[in-house]
Amino acid sequence: MSEQPERNLGLDLARATEAAALAAARWVGRGQKNEGDGAAVNALRLLLGTVRMDGIVVIGEGEKDEAPMLFNGERVGNGHGPAVDVAVDPVEGTNLLAKGRPNSIAVVAVAPRGTMFNPGPAFYMDKLIVGPEAAGKVDLEAPVAETLAIIARAKGLRIDEVTVVILDRPRNQARIQAIRDVGARIRLITDGDVAPSLMAALPGTGIDAVMGIGGTPEGVITACAMHGLGGEIQGCLAPQSDAERARIEAAGIAIGRKLTLAELAAGDDHFFAATGITQGDFLRGVRYTATGAITHSLVTRSRSGTWRTIEAHHRWDKLNGISAVEY
Ligand code: FBP
Repeated sequence: MSEQPERNLGLDLARATEAAALAAARWVGRGQKNEGDGAAVNALRLLLGTVRMDGIVVIGEGEKDEAPMLFNGERVGNGHGPAVDVAVDPVEGTNLLAKGRPNSIAVVAVAPRGTMFNPGPAFYMDKLIVGPEAAGKVDLEAPVAETLAIIARAKGLRIDEVTVVILDRPRNQARIQAIRDVGARIRLITDGDVAPSLMAALPGTGIDAVMGIGGTPEGVITACAMHGLGGEIQGCLAPQSDAERARIEAAGIAIGRKLTLAELAAGDDHFFAATGITQGDFLRGVRYTATGAITHSLVTRSRSGTWRTIEAHHRWDKLNGISAVEY
């Protein structure tokens, strides 16, 4: 019989995202996103092998961009302990990494087996992410003006003091215009909507919401984090090609239906860890010292509602068990 997760697996997961970030950090700004991703995948896989869990990768990475993968269905963990679903994104924001831009992070989320939404061939999802103040009050299907008014009221802000992050893509232009029409502020990002989603749910970051169409796997990962941070994500699959739509329909997944936080990640037993690779607005990037490197991570656990940040100082001469990874 499988056990329920009891200990804070998130702390073990942070060691794995630290390793992924350290491996990826060697590739910052070198213009080779797949090489950086590959280094992170190898490091993450190796360290996940030390975590006491019987994991199956539900959210792998790379399929959309044909990048190196931790495959969907791959077994991870040491094979003992709780049976869990695992979502990985060894480099969330591979372009950010390749170009040395801010906010690329290494990410892992874990939840009891069968509780994570499996996006299958659904690459794209319309998303609305808010922090604890507005959680439970917003509706993805409501007009943008209404949503922004609710967020502003919940946070005690004027609408022109609310900042929304949105991916700068032609598919999001109508939403961008709608936000501008209401007078809220926008931060357009080139890639990587998970880091700003975390910021939308963390205090004092200056980010109040994330909106618009981004990756579906990133939405499920974000859902695991929102459980721990007290924020909310709602989504709706938004295929961007006829082929994507056909594959989703063939897989029997409903398009056009709102997906709640509980549908994206069911229950209340989620662990999430993220480590900064490039310098970020919330998570700091990997910094080198004469003897090693410093990493900065966020760890959440939904059952206790605890989140913590961890600054770790790594010494190259004491890599201790992770020396098979090349830093
Ligand atoms: P990577 O897979 O290269 O890390 O890209 C991640 C990402 O920028 C997500 O953060 C975002 O949700 C999605 O890709 C957007 O997809 P696209 O770049 O195809 O618009």
